Amino acid sequence: MDNYVKRQGLRDTFGRPLTDLRISVTDRCNFRCTYCMPNEIYGERYKFLSRDAVLSYEEIIRVAKIFVQLGVTRLRLTGGEPLLRPNIEELVRDLAAISGVDDLSLTTNGYRLGKIAGKLKRAGLKRLTVSLDTLDDEIFQRMNGRQYGTQPILDGIQAAEEAGFMPIKINTVVQKGVNDHTVVELASYFKARGHIVRFIEYMDVGNRNGWRMEQVVSSKDILHQLNEEMPLVALSKNFPGEVAARYRYADGEGELGLISSVTNPFCMDCSRARLSADGIIYTCLFASFGHDLRTLIRSQTTDGDIVKFITRVWSAREDRYSEERGAHSKQPAKKVEMYHIGG
Ligand code: GTP
Ligand code: 5AD
Ligand code: SF4
Ligand code: SF4
Repeated sequence: MDNYVKRQGLRDTFGRPLTDLRISVTDRCNFRCTYCMPNEIYGERYKFLSRDAVLSYEEIIRVAKIFVQLGVTRLRLTGGEPLLRPNIEELVRDLAAISGVDDLSLTTNGYRLGKIAGKLKRAGLKRLTVSLDTLDDEIFQRMNGRQYGTQPILDGIQAAEEAGFMPIKINTVVQKGVNDHTVVELASYFKARGHIVRFIEYMDVGNRNGWRMEQVVSSKDILHQLNEEMPLVALSKNFPGEVAARYRYADGEGELGLISSVTNPFCMDCSRARLSADGIIYTCLFASFGHDLRTLIRSQTTDGDIVKFITRVWSAREDRYSEERGAHSKQPAKKVEMYHIGG
């Protein structure tokens, strides 16, 4: 590692450090959320990554160790749906054992959690986030595109509680006219159970969800709805670069988060790199291209050369898509898809 990086830590062109790595372990998912993998496009014949294209656990662990050497302290496993990857707990165990990893978390749709929550906890997973957009079965069936009801997810959450994950974060993407009238019910359900719901503004990720600004419900509007029923008080962030603005309920019971990626972007605090299942590094959720690490790791390259490669990529990073969104007269020609880099 060059001496400058050793002294200062790795910084991008805006001085942002590299502290978080989001690792996608598969591009496959058993859901077809309308805002991520619409059914019409991701049907039976859609070709996902082949087995050879996907990084093995050994490869992921090697890459993660190198990122940790470069200053990453927080790892998050994502997908597609990460719990579809066989024996994911083995990867969790080996990542948890890397010295310098302070936080290891996973974002899942919760469908398979009932079976595997205990194994994940025992393997050393620290935190769990479950996506659930509404408690209304009919709306949920429509949103997940596969007609799944909410019960398997609620059972999964309960199994995770019993395994010792507490509190669990619940991610809820809010779309106008779809589930925005169900936010108070959802917040109140999880408030009573001690979990942290985070309402997420619907984002223009990828090229295939037909995003329109009119479909976004601002965090301000959600806060207004919630405040009418259950008043909230703002809290400070847990750590620099946290994406959610935190609130506590004024009655003293529970916490809630609002992720305002559209109306109040947080690019200047963004210290996240993303690794796709096929080993491409992306420096922004809205990137048009990535940096191919897989070819490098499969060609007898030394760890030192990989350090140099990542250093070059991060040092040149200029991304601030969400801050520039308003200024874009038109969308970039091609953006990476959500299920490819795990959000
Ligand atoms: P915590 O460490 O628990 O705060 O996790 P997290 O919120 O960073 O991760 P999670 O996978 O739960 O993501 C929550 C939502 O925030 C998802 O919709 C992500 O796509 C979005 N998100 C996470 N990181 C970024 C980011 O860097 N930029 C933007 N625009 N959205 C992000
Ligand atoms: N806008 C906002 N959040 C999204 N997610 C997936 N697609 C979008 C989108 N277009 C969320 C998922 C998951 C998290 C990783 O990202 O619901 O909780
Ligand atoms: Fe699957 Fe998550 Fe995308 Fe829904 S948002 S289709 S659960 S990867
Ligand atoms: Fe980071 Fe890109 Fe999201 Fe901005 S838009 S916070 S740079 S991932």
